[in-house]
This record gives sequence, C-alpha cells and structure tokens, in this order.
Amino acid sequence: PVVALVMAGGTGTRLYPASRSDRPKQFLSLGGATGGDSLLARTVSRVRFADEIYVSTGEDHAETVREEVPEAGVLVEPEAKDTGPALAYAAHRIREQVGECVLLCVPSDHLVAGDFAPSATRAARTAVETEGLVAFGVEPTRPATGYGYIEPSDSETEHTGIEQFREKPDRETAERFVEDGFYWNAGLFAWTPESLLREARDSPLGPLVEALEAGDPERGFAEVESVSIDYAVMERTDDAYVVPADFEWDDVGAWDAIERVVETDGDGNAVLGDGLTIDAMENVVAADDRTHVSLVGVEGLVVAAYGDRVLVVPKDEAQRVREVVAELREQG
Ligand code: GDD
Ligand code: MG
Repeated sequence: PVVALVMAGGTGTRLYPASRSDRPKQFLSLGGATGGDSLLARTVSRVRFADEIYVSTGEDHAETVREEVPEAGVLVEPEAKDTGPALAYAAHRIREQVGECVLLCVPSDHLVAGDFAPSATRAARTAVETEGLVAFGVEPTRPATGYGYIEPSDSETEHTGIEQFREKPDRETAERFVEDGFYWNAGLFAWTPESLLREARDSPLGPLVEALEAGDPERGFAEVESVSIDYAVMERTDDAYVVPADFEWDDVGAWDAIERVVETDGDGNAVLGDGLTIDAMENVVAADDRTHVSLVGVEGLVVAAYGDRVLVVPKDEAQRVREVVAELREQG
C-alpha cells in the first residue's frame, strides 16, 4: 500500500504575524488560493488517493490536527527536532502499524495545483523498484537560497539517479545550479520505511534509529540533534533518485510568495483579506478578518496585520521576517 505521511510539525516563521507559535503556517488559509481551507486540509485532500493517511506533528498541535483533518491518523513526536528525526520516527511507527508499504512524505504547508497523483504514483513505484530514496524535482525559476538543489545524473537507466543533493546553497552557488539545469527539491519524498531507516542508520539519525528499535523513542529524541532530512540523509546518501514534478508547486515560503498565488490588481498589488490601495504599486497586503489595511503612494512593500501585530518590510527583503521572529523569541 501507499501511505501518505503529511509533515505538520513546523513553525513557518516567515509568514509572521499570520503564523505564530500557536498557529503555524500549515493551519493558515490563503483565501481564494486555498478555497478558504487551511493549507493542511488542502494537503490532506490532495493525498486522498493514498491507501492510508497519517499526519505527523508535536504534542502542541496534535489536537488542532485532529480537528482539522479527522480522517487522518495522527503521529505525535516526543520532541520537535526538525524533519530528520520526524521522518525516521514516522518510518519506524508506520512500519510497525502498517507493515510493508511505501511512504509518500508530504509537507503540509505548500500550494500545489494540477494533478498530483500521477507524479506521486510514479515516485512510489520508483521507491519500490530501486529501494532508494526518491525526491521530487521542480524546474527552478530563480536562484532561491531557501531550497535544496538536485543534480540529476545523466546515466541512461530506467530511473534518474541523483548525482548531488545540496541543501540551501548560497546565492552564487544557487545561480550556478540554476544555470547548470539542477532541480529544486520540492521537499516531498517517497521511500519504503526499510530504505529510509537503512540510510538513517548511517547518519546523524543513527542513535535515534537505534533507540527506536530498542523501544525507547523518548531517549532517542532527547539524544538526537535537531536536523532536517535534507542535511541528515539526502545530502549524504548514494542511493537517491529524482522524479520530475508534473504539478504546479509553490511552498509559499515568505510573504513575497503571495503575489504568485493570489490574483493581483491592475497595479500589481496582491491583497489577501480586506485592503485598499491608492497610487500604490506592487505591494503585498495581508490582513485578518478584523483588520482593514490602506496603502497610499507606496511601492514594493509587504504590510501584514494580524491580531495585535503589524509587520512592514520591503518585499525583496521578505526573508528577513525570520529575524523578527528570532528577536521576539529572544525577548521571550
Ligand atoms: N512532523 C514534523 N516535525 N514536521 C515538521 C517538523 C517536525 O519537527 N519540522 C518541520 N516540519 C514540516 C513543516 O511543517 C513543513 O511542512 C515540512 O516539514 C518542511 O519543513 P520546512 O521547515 O518548511 O523546510 P524548508 O522549507 O526549510 O526546506 C525543505 O523544503 C524545501 C521546499 O519547500 C527542504 O526539503 C528543501 O530542500 C526544500 O527545497
Ligand atoms: Mg518550507
């Protein structure tokens, strides 16, 4: 069987103040772009073709997940240690509960348009036939530094191997990768639990896998470092494959993404929620349903107002919202 595992334990800090620690990005709706649903609910309905659906998250959000998507099983991680530990834990638990299967690991906070099932089915088949780790490749449109990059191998076999996987390169390297025809890693993976655990054993996740198999997940999570699957496993393994994504994909990583996913007005403003713009160009406006935002004579800004919080940042520095969240965290 194909088991979809939706990863919903992240914080999505770059969409602050819409995303906060009590309401991370996957629980947000992006208006028309998500048909009023949350990104998580959208994701779960996208993987309905799978034989079973699980959502993995931490204790803090388990209840919200159960309410949002009652049709899915919930895997609760002992600690938030990023996607490396989360995916090793899921592989172990699902192998116990379901037995032999293919896991389709899906981020809960992306927007996908078009038909997802065909590429996903192809990836699942590749995972079984190669016994390797399968990533989904997206054609890059800009030298983004927040993504993983995949160099496909040119060997003529039935499945396209991965020559090199590089997580979040610097700008210069990203430019070279785009020129050289690398893919973006979509953050979606297919593998059997055995394959993932085999590769994880020989990685920074090794002690966790050992503790899981000894029946002590708490100890495993306490000991393991916080690390994403991309750094922990995908950059190291020799046994990875890529399947090109046949769907439209956007990870809505930061506020500037909103203009790619909602329809813009005649002046290029993307407005999510209630807003008014006068002589204002190419801005992103986002507000909750209690707040009305007006922009006059400004250009290239993000203005986001949620609850008692307002954020203003130049659109081309939208990634820096991370710094706000880090600073606020430090202040407690
Ligand atoms: N269950 C669980 N537990 N899920 C988690 C955890 C965790 O501890 N941490 C993050 N997640 C979820 C997030 O909610 C998100 O859906 C997904 O895992 C990916 O985590 P991100 O933190 O958003 O990763 P990223 O965007 O920096 O990078 C990844 O995605 C890019 C594409 O969007 C990488 O895979 C990149 O290589 C990739 O290009
Ligand atoms: Mg992400």
